[in-house]
Amino acid sequence: MDVRAGAPPLSSSDFAVTPAEAADARTMDALLIEGGRKLEGRVAISGAKNAALPVMAATLLAPGVHTLRNVPLLADTRTMGKVLEQLGAKVELQDHVCTIDTSRVTAVEAPYDLVKTMRASIYVLGPLLARFGAARVSLPGGCAWGPRPVNLHLEGMRALGADLQIDHGYIVGKDVRLRGAEIRFGTVSVGATGNLLMAAALAQGTTALDQVALEPDITALAEVLVACGARIEGIGTRRLVIHGVASLTPIDATIIPDRIEAATFMAAAAITGGHLTLERCEGAHMAAAIHTLEDTGCSVLPEPGEVTITGPRRPRATDVTTAPFPGFPTDMQAQMMALLSIAAGTSQVTDTVYLDRFTHVPELVRLGADIRLEGNAAVIRGVERLQAAPVMATDIRASAALVLAALAAEGETRISRIYHLDRGYERLDLKLAQLGARVQRVRD
Ligand code: EPU
Repeated sequence: MDVRAGAPPLSSSDFAVTPAEAADARTMDALLIEGGRKLEGRVAISGAKNAALPVMAATLLAPGVHTLRNVPLLADTRTMGKVLEQLGAKVELQDHVCTIDTSRVTAVEAPYDLVKTMRASIYVLGPLLARFGAARVSLPGGCAWGPRPVNLHLEGMRALGADLQIDHGYIVGKDVRLRGAEIRFGTVSVGATGNLLMAAALAQGTTALDQVALEPDITALAEVLVACGARIEGIGTRRLVIHGVASLTPIDATIIPDRIEAATFMAAAAITGGHLTLERCEGAHMAAAIHTLEDTGCSVLPEPGEVTITGPRRPRATDVTTAPFPGFPTDMQAQMMALLSIAAGTSQVTDTVYLDRFTHVPELVRLGADIRLEGNAAVIRGVERLQAAPVMATDIRASAALVLAALAAEGETRISRIYHLDRGYERLDLKLAQLGARVQRVRD
């Protein structure tokens, strides 16, 4: 996938980029952003990364040709495509429609080389065990900001009767016959809920999952599975009851809008004092972010299918604590911190989902922010203005925070390693340029 500014629209098969080309493009790009321009206009929100990935994995549950619409063109959806191809699926992506033929899936291995670049590859574990009774999936390892364990996925699959072993860094299951069970999560986990939901859909008997994640991505996954013949009760509540069925039909689904991309654009309007209308988004999925932005002085008008936001002259300080949905999303924590770094007053941002997701802090400080870390909380004393500096992206949302800060900073900021950004935002640089930002993609 070529996401360079000025590249032609993506319409041919987007999964046809060789790993060498992708690696080259991903490691070499940087963004140059000249701050100080108010963003104005309308922008279309893409499909949600975190909704697309589990639905792509769910195609393994049923043999046949699956059609997924509104799939975002991202490094991560391409990685999931490659994981599926590795298993024997035929994957094509054209004009945001992803066609996945899982008729001839024969392999059950998700290799380390792919899984290490995207932890969400673990979503193939449940479908592989459920349909083939076998899986060999690399353990994801740590990530840029901490360990991010997968114990809940493993414990849940074992509770469903899978005798999983860890073998040379791989999760291995053989001759597995999944049976329904009662599972109560000690921690709310998006990924473990999704993985077990997919596994339980084809397990023998009834499974009850308690303390499940309520993120719209998971609700959407459950609804997709139901449309394919799964029997799931309690969708939208903390307890899901799944009556296993013998088989599912292929998926024909539209991926929901990306609430984190939308909220990132709202923060861009807020930090530049701009005025944006976000098209093709769902206000109800971002209520917590909208309320917090209103606390900083933004005026927000949610309407069916779109949200309009006007940023204040200068944002006000506010305190933010992340929590599982419907709480304030950890995936907006870094971006909110960028905004609060120029707020009038002192704010505190606490992350209760990932206690150490703060790699963006030293980079924001390089741009002139005054942020002090105390455990899983950051105390931000708002400064009048940020100043451009060379900075480095460290993960998807940290990169987005640096882009936002650069939009408000005096001078030209150079953000290196933006392959992180390309994992989760479809052409963010182009979309921002269309809204009036001075942003340029260059070779680092
Ligand atoms: N956790 C465990 N054990 C597990 C799984 C999770 O202890 O087996 C803990 C985690 O360490 C964390 C908490 O549970 O403290 C919640 O993690 P969760 O499992 O919900 O996270 P995830 O499924 O790995 C998804 C998103 C993340 C997002 C989190 C939290 C996808 C593909 N990823 O990850 O998105 O931050 O939920 O909302 O859906 C991003 O898009 O930038 C991103 C990191």
